[in-house]
Amino acid sequence: MPLLDVRDLTMHYVTKMGDVHAVDGVTFSLEHGEAIGLVGESGCGKTSIALTLLRLLPDNAKFLGGQALFDGVDLTRLPESEMRKIRWRGISMIFQAAMNSLNPVYRVGDQIIEAMQTHMSISYREARKRVAELFELVGLAPELMDRYPHEYSGGMKQRAVIAMALACDPKLIIADEPTTALDVIVQDRILRRIDEVRKTLNMAMMYISHDIAVIAEVSQRIGVMYAGHLVEFGDTVTLFGRPAHPYTIALMSAFPSLRGEKRKLRALPGEPPDLLRPPPGCRFHPRCPFATEICTTQAPPQDMIEPGHTVACWHPQVRRS
Ligand SMILES: Nc1ncnc2c1ncn2[C@@H]1O[C@H](COP(=O)(O)OP(=O)(O)OP(=O)(O)O)[C@@H](O)[C@H]1O
Ligand code: SF4
Ligand SMILES: [Mg+2]
Repeated sequence: MPLLDVRDLTMHYVTKMGDVHAVDGVTFSLEHGEAIGLVGESGCGKTSIALTLLRLLPDNAKFLGGQALFDGVDLTRLPESEMRKIRWRGISMIFQAAMNSLNPVYRVGDQIIEAMQTHMSISYREARKRVAELFELVGLAPELMDRYPHEYSGGMKQRAVIAMALACDPKLIIADEPTTALDVIVQDRILRRIDEVRKTLNMAMMYISHDIAVIAEVSQRIGVMYAGHLVEFGDTVTLFGRPAHPYTIALMSAFPSLRGEKRKLRALPGEPPDLLRPPPGCRFHPRCPFATEICTTQAPPQDMIEPGHTVACWHPQVRRS
């Protein structure tokens, strides 16, 4: 049984102008100890998926259906009291721009200790010891726990936020743009460190990023999102070697295809659709060179085109490696 099994997840935001179709029929899974990446342009619904799983959506969000089995338990239907036990201890999240949300008037270590004491029964002394261990794990000198956030560099803050996510020993960490604010070298170093920690602790990770180059190296499988839909999902080598969805291909085509080479998501011609009024059928059809009549009226299902490789497209571009 996978650690996380997401099926047909659908949620919209209700606004004065109508519903924003943020997440529509998203299906994927995550194995114990596995790292996956979710990529796509800004506004395609990545954070909304994470917030749906953790049930931290704002009041105007409307859950419309689907399920998310975490260790066999459907998160979408858990009472809030049970959900509280899952957050931090089962699944913890590194929020987008989390490093800027460290409280400036408290010592960094104390903020982590407080989070631990809120979610598990642990003495102050034990928690301090654990923070020291976690700091070493993420590459921070343990003495730094008695310093304030303004005494930290951006990279150090991000490491502290990762230590906080690890504090309650979760089975899964969702990391939303965990390194976006940092320079490329620091990003790379931190992601490698997270990856080492993940392997040591046999923890699962779900990375979320608009930049495929950043997460490809540390993700075993990648899901590509477009306008609230998961359009392609497969192992990282397959996705780079044989992308089949026209959107994934377009994103990657501007780059020479060296195996395993890093690539960035490129801005495509045309605008990403307005999720208040998404195009009917396949949401990519107004920008797709392969679109036919059916694409404009019927949404393609997520089909498996080879073992472990799914694509939501009426005309997948299946190519030999
Ligand atoms: N509270 C809200 N009310 C209405 N619309 C919202 C709300 N939150 C997000 N949206 C819209 O839902 C869509 C998905 O947003 P989401 O934040 O999940 O995207 P994202 O892929 O995480 O983007 P980014 O890469 O910029 O973080 C966007 O169109 C966004 O404008
Ligand atoms: S379903 Fe049609 S429009 Fe959508 S990506 Fe495939 S070919 Fe293009
Ligand atoms: Mg986001």
